[in-house]
Amino acid sequence: MPSPGRNGKRVQTDNQTKKRLKTAEGLLLFWTLFIGLGAVAGASGMLLDPSGKAMGMDGMLPYFQKLPFADVLFRNLFFSGIALLCVNGIPNLIAATLLILRRKAGVFLGGLFGFTLMLWICIQFYMFPLNFMSTIYFIFGLCQLLTAYAAYGFARQTEFSVRREDYPNIGTDKEKLVVFFSRRGYCKKLAYREADRTGAEVTEIMTGEKISGMFGFLWCGRFGMHRRGMPIAPICADFSHYAHVTLVTPIWVFAISSPMREFLRRAEGQIHHYDLVVCHFSNFRYLGAKREAEALLHAPAASFRSVRCRFGQFKEPQRKQKLP
Ligand SMILES: Cc1cc2nc3c(=O)[nH]c(=O)nc-3n(C[C@H](O)[C@H](O)[C@H](O)COP(=O)(O)O)c2cc1C
Repeated sequence: MPSPGRNGKRVQTDNQTKKRLKTAEGLLLFWTLFIGLGAVAGASGMLLDPSGKAMGMDGMLPYFQKLPFADVLFRNLFFSGIALLCVNGIPNLIAATLLILRRKAGVFLGGLFGFTLMLWICIQFYMFPLNFMSTIYFIFGLCQLLTAYAAYGFARQTEFSVRREDYPNIGTDKEKLVVFFSRRGYCKKLAYREADRTGAEVTEIMTGEKISGMFGFLWCGRFGMHRRGMPIAPICADFSHYAHVTLVTPIWVFAISSPMREFLRRAEGQIHHYDLVVCHFSNFRYLGAKREAEALLHAPAASFRSVRCRFGQFKEPQRKQKLP
């Protein structure tokens, strides 16, 4: 469990992530049951009356003639029924069972079978003229896949933790400082790792603004979009005392996060030797953030690191890009 933040906000975020995970898993269970039971019902109808007359599907048979081996496999709906049962029916019910048993594989298989449904519907797009049922089921498959992706992400986030006691070397070199802002804890982890490596002291930029949850995300986005600073708590540090400072910030709307922007404005002319670390979701390097920090501090960054973080997994993009 991540340690509570100064104002308890981290705990609130953890509970929110758990709630979101529960909601996403519940929704995925709904999709797997809805698609699985629907497919079993449809397949049963086809197998009980392969002519399709009872279900009013006999008019569809001519369309099946476009498919390979149609004269053998699609003279009636028997093979289609078996295929529907094996591709969408039973697999989704297996995924639903695993989700009920709270097995990790349930989320993976739920997503996989959402994708399978989309492929299945692609065959229908090839066979039939554009129609409402195929289109809506394609969207259902996509929803199932995206729900599984969200559940996977939330599960990874709940496993993510940053505990100060895991970094014993922090604060052993009084000449170094790491300053960071972090909304969800990813930059906090990077900052702690860096401080543990160099022995630097650590200072967190705090804000009283609402930053957690969906509303917090949108609120932060508003500041980010307008390239504004965000009100922050005063930082009582004499930067001239430190030989080296490392700044760690998330990227917000393709630029430095607003609390870090505010900090840099206040620290103008006080920090001369610094490294900049930016953390973000996408694969870009965000060299613009380096330019912005240099402009605000009136000093060139000694080094620049761009780290991608997805659901708590860090990766540094390897793409070669010319530094300006
Ligand atoms: C308002 C907002 C805007 C964001 N914009 C971007 C973006 O433009 N590009 C990107 O890759 N990530 C973006 N992100 C994702 C964060 O940069 C990323 O999740 C980062 O790891 C968060 O670090 P933290 O947990 O320490 O706050 C944004 C996040 C927020 C809250």
